[in-house]
Parts: sequence; structure tokens; C-alpha cells
Amino acid sequence: MSDEIKPRGLARGLTNYGDNAFSLYLRRSMASSMGYSKDMLNKPVIGICSSGSGYNNCHRLMPELVEAAKRGVLAAGGLPIDFPTISLGEVFLSPTSMMYRNLMSMDVEEMIRAQPMDAVVVIGGCDKTMPAQLMGAANAEVPVVHCVVGPMMTSPYNGDRLGACTDCRRFWGKYRAGEIDEAGINRVETGLATTAGTCAVMGTASTMAAIAETLGMLLPGTATIPAIHADRIRAAEASGVRAMELALANGSDKLLPRDIITKESVENALRVLLAIGGSTNAIVHLTAVAGRLGIPVPLDRLNVLSDETPVIVDLKPTGQHYMEDLFAAGGIGAVLKELRPLLNLDCMTVAGETLGQRLDRELEENLWCDPEVVKPLTAPYQDKGGLVALFGSLAPRGAILKRSAADPKLFETEGRAVVFRDLADLAARIDSDDLDVKPDDVLVLQNAGPKSPAAMPEAGYLPIPKKLARAGLKDMLRISDARMSGTAFGTIVLHVTPEAADGGPLGLVRDGDRIRVSVENRTIELLVDQAELDKRRAASPPTAAQPEFKRGYRKIYMDHVLQADGGVDFDFLRAVD
Ligand code: FES
Repeated sequence: MSDEIKPRGLARGLTNYGDNAFSLYLRRSMASSMGYSKDMLNKPVIGICSSGSGYNNCHRLMPELVEAAKRGVLAAGGLPIDFPTISLGEVFLSPTSMMYRNLMSMDVEEMIRAQPMDAVVVIGGCDKTMPAQLMGAANAEVPVVHCVVGPMMTSPYNGDRLGACTDCRRFWGKYRAGEIDEAGINRVETGLATTAGTCAVMGTASTMAAIAETLGMLLPGTATIPAIHADRIRAAEASGVRAMELALANGSDKLLPRDIITKESVENALRVLLAIGGSTNAIVHLTAVAGRLGIPVPLDRLNVLSDETPVIVDLKPTGQHYMEDLFAAGGIGAVLKELRPLLNLDCMTVAGETLGQRLDRELEENLWCDPEVVKPLTAPYQDKGGLVALFGSLAPRGAILKRSAADPKLFETEGRAVVFRDLADLAARIDSDDLDVKPDDVLVLQNAGPKSPAAMPEAGYLPIPKKLARAGLKDMLRISDARMSGTAFGTIVLHVTPEAADGGPLGLVRDGDRIRVSVENRTIELLVDQAELDKRRAASPPTAAQPEFKRGYRKIYMDHVLQADGGVDFDFLRAVD
């Protein structure tokens, strides 16, 4: 069937009553009740997929972005129809937003598929929202233009600046160490997040926005525009216009997500992740997005890229600046310009130009780049990429360390394990004066991975035990199967795979065991002989799923969730051959 005679607009995907003419008649009748004229109902339909929610502070300005996207569609001659999906406000979900990322991705995928639309603008931003939307859109059979809500601004504080959420953790650490008092932490609390938008540093939300722009799913230059900037509204309007153009396109011009998210663009995204000192979460999310299209993201390949790709962005939590500074410094375009020799330039973007064509155009436009924030490739901020994968007897299928935000003095460490069997045990004992812990020990948290009752929360940033914090200790080696907020920092090994609750060796570690980590050799070893480990395994099998996970979505989650090397996606959502 040619494009010309394919059903379009409201005639797409009719509700099945056994009589298509009746189905269309009924649909148009119901749509008329919303006050549309017949002319409007004959136009191409552009869905505007909105993830606004009163439980999502980051998406507070979603209504004006939806309106702007609709304006763009109308100006380009289409009929915009907005629809809501699940929203994942990072700090409002229990046990963790991560548990619901896959649910949201299913919502996005199925609502794009089930409802009549010729293209769709998908708007999101907060940590798990963008990954869920990218995962859900990956297999769409209509063009998809992503748009992010943009990052928060910082606010002034005692001659300094405050921005969620690296500063949240920095000041909480000071409070725990007794360096600031109750009144001080209360003042900080009201100054950390003072505008709409996603966290103000290179956390997971900003990292995923950078990745989405690099993949080519966002319009060029839009990832870093602050949430409250007028350019942000113009970006939403332009997204609506572009979605309409794509809806009208034919043949190879009708770009689908699978034309944009390819092995080559995923590799570009990995390069950018490494160069921006991006969030460890992004490796899990990118693995999940790529996995929906059958594209593998092996951790040993990450290590190769990491050795070749320096950190070139000076931004918290790795460096000093904030997202508004990166925007002013030229945004992701400036990063891509520097990385150009390392990138696959033939990758197509949703704008209809290849990455190479985009960079040529921006070179001609002579766009501003600030070398204070985006360093030249020849004089980078750090010589090696921000993330490194470790393998060994403690993590046979890998673990992740964000070396750009870690203390290099701890890169080659052997120490005594101090083990917490789960989050409750951690909370109960970490601040006890009786805890047997020294600065050169290794803190180990078990049972916080995808299959644990905690569902892989951002708990990998184990607090420094209070008695050591009060003595001035700022960092120590910490290891878990949990994740860590992209805004956090420290020498922290995450995503240990397989996890303890899935029978991984992490669950066999006991107090006093020796653990050796070598960033240089990419290794993480539990220095206990196999016979002893076998004995421990026989005595204490892996933790089983908890009773509350016996029905509903949580049961689906427990039955189907994959490990970190599968993107923590559900097995049935990955690409089929
Ligand atoms: Fe939404 Fe940080 S809480 S991005």
C-alpha cells in the first residue's frame, strides 16, 4: 500500500466493531463533541504525549510546553491531541522510581500504538521519565520527536550557588559531620530546588537529555535549555512543527525511531556519556533503550571507549559548573563539536540531517562555545572517560564505577569488608558508635539490586559512617548491587552483576573478607577461596521475593526483571529476532 492511501489522522487504527465505516463514523462523532470542526478532524493528527503530574516537581511547566507543541502543530497545519501517561517524579515513588520505569515505558509504547496519530511529540525529563519514553518510543511505527522539560536554575546562597542535587548531598554530608546545624540545613533545604525543571547538575535527567540529543531523538541544541527559559517554549513549538513535517513525509524521509537509534548512534551516545562525566544510571537506561531494538551495549566495549574518550565537561558532580553554565557554553552542540573526530557522523537525526551535517551547519553558524565549561579534546578536564566497568570474582558480569567523581587515591584498594545485608541493616547500624569500621575498610551493601525487595534504589551512595564523618573522612570505597543518583559522588562501585538476590557472589561476602579493586586492571575481586564460598552458599541461599510481590505489577516486575547488563528491562520487552 502506498503512503497516499494509508489511513491517516483519526482514520488510523480504528476501534474494532466489525464495521470499519461505522467505527470511523462513531469516532468522528465522539471527537466532534470536543468542539472540533470537520476541517480540523480531517487533518493529520499529532499526539502530544505529556508526563505532567502534581507528583513531579520537575515537570511543573509541562502545561505550557504542551501548549507550545500544540501551537507548533497547528501552525504547520495539523491537529494536535495531547494525552497523559504515567509520570515518575523521582523523590515521590516508593520503593524507587526505577521499579516503575518499565511500566511507564509500556504505557508510552501502547498509547502511541493504540491511539490514532501520524506522529508524536513526547515530553518528559525527570530521571526515569526520559528513559521510559525512549524505551517506549523505540518500536513506534510513527515518527517521534522527543522534547525535554529542561534543567532547573541554581539559586544564590551565602556567596555561593545551590543546585539540586549534588549540593543536596554535599550539605547533608556537612550536616551529618556536624559542620552545619539544624537551622543551616533548613535554609539549604529551601534553596536547593527553586525553579521548575530537572536537577541542575549532570545527574541522570541531564545525562539522558544529552544522550537523547546525541542519539538524534531531540531537536539539535535543545537538551540543555533551562526549564524557565523562553527558548524552552520555542523548542516545544519547534518540536510540534517538526513532528508535523515528519507526519507528512514519505519514503525514507519518514523517519522512525529505529532509523535514528542504531548501533552507531548508541555508540555516539556512549561517547557523550563518558565525555560529560554522566550518570551511572545512564548505562543501564541506554542498555534498555538499545535492547528494545536488539542493539547490545557490552561493558567491555564501554571500557574501550572510556580509554579513548576524555571527560571534557567541567560540571557537577564531576566538576564545578551547573547545567545553566553548559547551556550558556554552547550546550551539547559544543560537546559534539569537540568529540567530532570520535563520532559516527552519518547517523540520522530527527531533524532530518545527519550528525555530521548538523555539526557542519553549526560550524558555519559559528555557535559560541565556552572552553571554561567545555574543554578542548586536546586539553580535556580528565584524560579518561567518566565511567569504567570492573569485572572479577565479586562481579562476574560486571560492575560500574564513576571514576570521574571518585577519589583516584582509592582506585587501587584492598580492604576489609564491612557488610550490611540490606537497606534496613544499613539504616540500623551505619551510625552506631559500636560499628567496627575504619577509614580503609570497604563498605558492602547486599540485596539492593533489581530483584531485591528494594528494586535497585539509588542507595549505592552509602553514607560515610557518622563516627568517621565526624573525624573528617570524606570518601571510602563502597560496593553494592544498587544504583546511585547521577548527582552523587565518591568512590562507589555499583550495579554489581549478578546481584545478591539473584545468587551473585556479592551475597556471599562476610565481615572481615578481603576485597581488592583495581581501576587500572578493571578488576573487582573477593579474596575468599571457592570452597568457603560454596559452604556459605549452601548455608544461606539467595534472598527470595518478598510476600508483597505476589500479585499485580510488582509480581510482573519480579518475574521478568533482568539484571543491570540487561538494562533492568523486562525480558518480554526486549527485541525479538
Ligand atoms: Fe527530577 Fe532530579 S528530581 S531530575
